[in-house]
Amino acid sequence: MSYLETTKNVYKEAALKPDVGLCCTTTPVWQLPGLSIPTKMLQMNYGCGSTVHPRDLVNNPKILYVGVGGGMELLQFSYFSRQKAGVIGVDVVDEMLLASKENFVEAEKQNPWFKSEFVELRKGDALNLPIEDESVDVAAQNCLFNIFKAEDLKKALSEMYRVLKPRGRLVLSDPTCETKMPENLLNDERLRALCLSGALPLKEYIKMITDIGFGTVEIRAKRPYRILDSKHYKTDKLIYIESVEVCAIKDPMPDDGACIFTGKTAIYFGVDELFDDHKGHTLLQNQPLAVCDKTANALTELGRNDIFISESTYFYDGGGCC
Ligand SMILES: C[S@@+](CC[C@H](N)C(=O)[O-])C[C@H]1O[C@@H](n2cnc3c(N)ncnc32)[C@H](O)[C@@H]1O
Repeated sequence: MSYLETTKNVYKEAALKPDVGLCCTTTPVWQLPGLSIPTKMLQMNYGCGSTVHPRDLVNNPKILYVGVGGGMELLQFSYFSRQKAGVIGVDVVDEMLLASKENFVEAEKQNPWFKSEFVELRKGDALNLPIEDESVDVAAQNCLFNIFKAEDLKKALSEMYRVLKPRGRLVLSDPTCETKMPENLLNDERLRALCLSGALPLKEYIKMITDIGFGTVEIRAKRPYRILDSKHYKTDKLIYIESVEVCAIKDPMPDDGACIFTGKTAIYFGVDELFDDHKGHTLLQNQPLAVCDKTANALTELGRNDIFISESTYFYDGGGCC
């Protein structure tokens, strides 16, 4: 059996019987005024962060969500979109589509503003999306793409790129891991399906995204996720896994490479009112400017003693250079 088939079986089981410990989010569930999330949906929260960010959702976007799970994030997206088929959910597992559909019926009972028709469910594969080219503004996936091996991950990312409109946003939440994963764990299909052994180092994960053509990448959050230790897993070293929230924007690729925001800030503290690098960046005296890593490097290379560049916080929240 291929690891993709094993994955389908794992999520078939998780659809038929909610598994509260599976994936295990480290973020609190978004609670919003007037939003009630059915218990079963909460039990089927198989994500590792959040892909629902209100600031991605201005101007009535068409939203695609791949790998629906119990449907919690689709309900949260619907909270902002509130229109028929405003959110399209795609999943390859029939049982998961059915479970989420039932959860939406329950959500409709608990939320006077919500109608099941706000979510359109489609059977389909992340590797071959049943979606028109350039037809969505926001495409999201939570804790699915980390399962894919490199060639499949490339395919899944390029499918998201294909269906996004120009300037559209791909919002991702996935585990990442800086320790080299032992081969036996990498090839353990069930561990991979459980989002425990496919995690890439953050830089590699970002490179996969920019290689597809996304011109801007924002790292919005990075948090501790799991430990794989020798008592519970076949490893002789302790493996620390984090989870990240990333937004990749389908901007044109700049000639000098993608703008990747990891939460660095530049502050000019010289004697003039401002510092202008004549490359489009103006630093006002003692005012922080969020900068992408490329700009941070260029400013550092100037070797000035009146510009401070902060470390990456991995909590980039918009604005700044580029
Ligand atoms: C780890 S769960 C995450 C569910 C949901 N995103 C959440 O945050 O709760 C992975 C989801 O992807 C679905 N899935 C697995 N393989 C898939 C594929 N090749 N294409 C589309 N969906 C897939 C599973 O059925 C499951 O719903």
